[in-house]
Amino acid sequence: MYIVFEGIDGSGKSTQSKLLKDYLVSKGYDVELIVEPTDSDIGKLIRKLLQNPNARSDYMQKTFGLLFAADRMILMNKIQDLESENKIIISDRSFYSSLVYQEPYNWIKEINKFAKKPDLVLLLDMDLKTAVMRSQGTDEFENEEFLSSVKEKYLKLARNSSNFKIINGNNNLDEVSSNIKKVVDAVFNI
Ligand code: TYD
Repeated sequence: MYIVFEGIDGSGKSTQSKLLKDYLVSKGYDVELIVEPTDSDIGKLIRKLLQNPNARSDYMQKTFGLLFAADRMILMNKIQDLESENKIIISDRSFYSSLVYQEPYNWIKEINKFAKKPDLVLLLDMDLKTAVMRSQGTDEFENEEFLSSVKEKYLKLARNSSNFKIINGNNNLDEVSSNIKKVVDAVFNI
């Protein structure tokens, strides 16, 4: 089972992915938490480049597209192993992040063809201004105008993909967490 959290920067993915992990562990499941970009050498390079003032330029967006795809390629090997051990994988981001953060769409889709499609995508949708305030503003993508287009692209993806569930991320932490648990219980019948 491969469950993914998606959402703009500051939407609470990392907190909620940990809470969901604790919940599933308490139910007796074997769970592995994953974060993209990963801690591979490519992932480390990505985090460094995210600080670059040109990060949102056209040529850098294409560079990011390739780097995120390469980082993910390594990760897919690990995901295969975890699935063969019957582990539940919870991931903070996936190739869907590349589809909404990088461009052009069709090319990004093509270079991510190898990426495994998640069984469930929990899209934490929230008010843009709150998210921008919450995010630490440490990388160049944490920009209100840019994130506004990312948010719209996420909602469009959600409308066209049957594995997406939209979670209202504006509620308080416990409420969001309890909604996520309800969705996961219902989808996987656990
Ligand atoms: P993020 O989850 O926000 O990490 P952190 O909480 O440590 O800042 O991810 C880092 C940034 O990378 C974020 O701005 C989104 C961006 N990103 C992409 O642009 N494309 C991708 O494919 C992925 C996985 C992330």
